[in-house]
Amino acid sequence: MEIIIVRDADEVGRVAALKIASVVQRDPEAVLGLATGSSPTGIYASLAARVAAGELDFGRASGFALDEYVGIPLEHPESYASVIERDVVVPLGMDASKVRVPDGRASDIEAAVVDYERAIADAGGIDIQILGIGANGHIGFNEPTSSFASRTRIKTLAPQTRADNARFFDDPSQVPTHCLTQGLGTILDAHEVVLVAQGSAKASAVAGMVEGPLSAMCPGSALQLPRRATIVVDEAAAADLQLADYYRYTYANKPVWQRFE
Ligand code: GLP
Repeated sequence: MEIIIVRDADEVGRVAALKIASVVQRDPEAVLGLATGSSPTGIYASLAARVAAGELDFGRASGFALDEYVGIPLEHPESYASVIERDVVVPLGMDASKVRVPDGRASDIEAAVVDYERAIADAGGIDIQILGIGANGHIGFNEPTSSFASRTRIKTLAPQTRADNARFFDDPSQVPTHCLTQGLGTILDAHEVVLVAQGSAKASAVAGMVEGPLSAMCPGSALQLPRRATIVVDEAAAADLQLADYYRYTYANKPVWQRFE
């Protein structure tokens, strides 16, 4: 894991966007794993600004959303299909036909998740997976005790996750109880991952992910396993990291040829 601690939330978005931009500049047909939620909005805004400036082109890239609610209509403004369209596809100028979201409205959920996994494999796998982390350590919607081998499937949202996401809905009772999410095994298959976290509410989850034991109780700790995981956090989210000074020292002394910013 590479841990990058930066000043504030804006800087988190800027630095993580540079990482993603470097992948798309190297391969304009890159396959992106797309997270929703508050955490990656700064990434998408930063990338969109560079697209508007003519510095980046996502027209040939494709994408797979990380997760989706079950039980809300496609056109609901908080369905992840709507969020991905609004926050990612349009501002980045992606080709909508190359961006998929798990089908939370499918009558046959089992077939839909198998189909989603097949589509990722057919695309050659995900080149870079963008992630946030929940306050309880979840990534995607892989709640605590999710199997590290799990694939895209239906999950029941933890009460804390429903409460955390209630801010996006008019009434807490409207937050769906179920979702489809790429599994931890799906996420671990990505060529590389970049996870962002901002704010003190994420400090404990970040510490568990980076320095805690590898444990299904903190699904984010699965990111200790892949060869390439970049974690970009602000000072508040880094507050519980025991080795914060070491990560700062490492980043400050990173060889020039390894830098992406
Ligand atoms: C959400 C999403 C995750 C996200 C996490 C944190 O519910 N399903 O993909 O990373 O929980 O959310 P936020 O970024 O809004 O804090």
